[in-house]
Amino acid sequence: MKKITIAIDGFSSTGKSTLAKQIANQLGYIYVDTGAMYRAVTYFAMQHNFISETHLDTEELIKNLSDITLQFRFNETLGFAEMYLNNENIELAIRTIEVSRMVSKIAEISEVRAKLVEQQQQMGQNKGIVMDGRDIGTIVFPDADLKLFMTASPQTKAQRRFEELIEKGQKVTFEEVLQNVHERFVILLQT
Ligand code: DC
Repeated sequence: MKKITIAIDGFSSTGKSTLAKQIANQLGYIYVDTGAMYRAVTYFAMQHNFISETHLDTEELIKNLSDITLQFRFNETLGFAEMYLNNENIELAIRTIEVSRMVSKIAEISEVRAKLVEQQQQMGQNKGIVMDGRDIGTIVFPDADLKLFMTASPQTKAQRRFEELIEKGQKVTFEEVLQNVHERFVILLQT
């Protein structure tokens, strides 16, 4: 059967990755969580002190972008591909509230976006791919065969993220997560 490219765009924590994983599993397609790639670059920046709660050294991060090698490796037990940064499994490390708080700053950097978009386009060359993220249907695969867009209320987004974080053993309150969702919403409105 002819394989297609499926692009799932939408806001954070609206269930994009849940839907994308289910579609990929049903069709035997490759699922690419592009948010994980932005989280991985954020984690790298945190490790190298290019970013903290109080500062961001964009110039240094850009200079060091070539030291970042990202890979997805399929985990048979989990049923999805985990994120690796320079051969280290960082799937859990990129899901913390600290990374969530800083990732939007990193995702604003055009050099970071250019690097990740290029890699995403390479991964989609052979079709049979489901990719999610807010620029997938517009920038990464403007000619995708199927485009979906997902949204949800701030409460629903916060509830989804809260449950994800609790499941991973993070100590956060629903209010903190809701606040984080609101902050990101404000950023979205400003851009
Ligand atoms: O979906 P998520 O929460 O894992 O995404 C993490 C961050 O990366 C979030 O700030 C949105 C951003 N992102 C992006 O700018 N472009 C993408 N294609 C995917 C995610």
